Amino acid sequence: MLEQVLKRLNKNAPIGVVDSGVGGLTVLKHLHQMMPKENFIFIGDTARTPYGTRTEEELRGFADEMITWLENKGAKLIVFACNTMTMLGINTLEKDHQLLLIGMSKGEQLLDIASRNRKVGVFATPYTIGTGAHRKAIEEVAPDMRVFPMPCAKFVPLVEAEKFGTQEVIDAVHEYAVPLKEAGIDSLILSCTHYPFIQEEIEAEFGPSVKVVDPAKETAMLAKKMLDILGLRRTENEGSMTICCTADIERVKRLTARALPEEKVAYQLINLQENK
Ligand code: DGL
Repeated sequence: MLEQVLKRLNKNAPIGVVDSGVGGLTVLKHLHQMMPKENFIFIGDTARTPYGTRTEEELRGFADEMITWLENKGAKLIVFACNTMTMLGINTLEKDHQLLLIGMSKGEQLLDIASRNRKVGVFATPYTIGTGAHRKAIEEVAPDMRVFPMPCAKFVPLVEAEKFGTQEVIDAVHEYAVPLKEAGIDSLILSCTHYPFIQEEIEAEFGPSVKVVDPAKETAMLAKKMLDILGLRRTENEGSMTICCTADIERVKRLTARALPEEKVAYQLINLQENK
């Protein structure tokens, strides 16, 4: 199967990066830094965000639409820059699609290195926490580790609404942080790609004794490695970035300028139900 897919892919094809909304931009930033000669097509499903309180059936439907849309654009790889969709099991999304897929790193190795007292926190969406996948991955790498998961349903809507630095964000961060502070964690993983947008507020709440870990860079490194191994890296000419969204393009432009302040970007409002 992989051999057949590889035969059809070429290194000049674009890389798709997908999320429920703007969160995936925090991963796109690292992907672009590591692979500046690639052409990236980002999709933020801003019309249907948040995903973290949806059912598995809904999420599979959305993921399938994104894959089909990007497959029609000739993409060679899709990075699921969304922990919630990654929880569906990337290999179960592949089906008979003719391109490569990769999901978010769970960051278990990063936590193993970061934590001295072996008490770690996980901030993620209710869907992600409900799967127990992060706890399992961390305990497999480090059975001595105690994991304190925290579903943070309020964060994604606050990020999408650009509430940075407001009392609402500070209060929500405080609410979710208190039990983890009481548990005495010394490191915390941000297992939702929206959360780096409010990393400053999270770090301010926990203080310097807690190391906040973002697995975005590791995810980008894994994607690069995969393309390198398969001989699918684009290494000539300048790359490009197209940011697609399903609603609120002006808001997406402002949030992109916040996440990727120095980049030249093209924008497009799209309909994921088209091009099926
Ligand atoms: N950025 C998505 C994630 O990493 C957010 C999901 C949501 O929309 O709730 O899980």
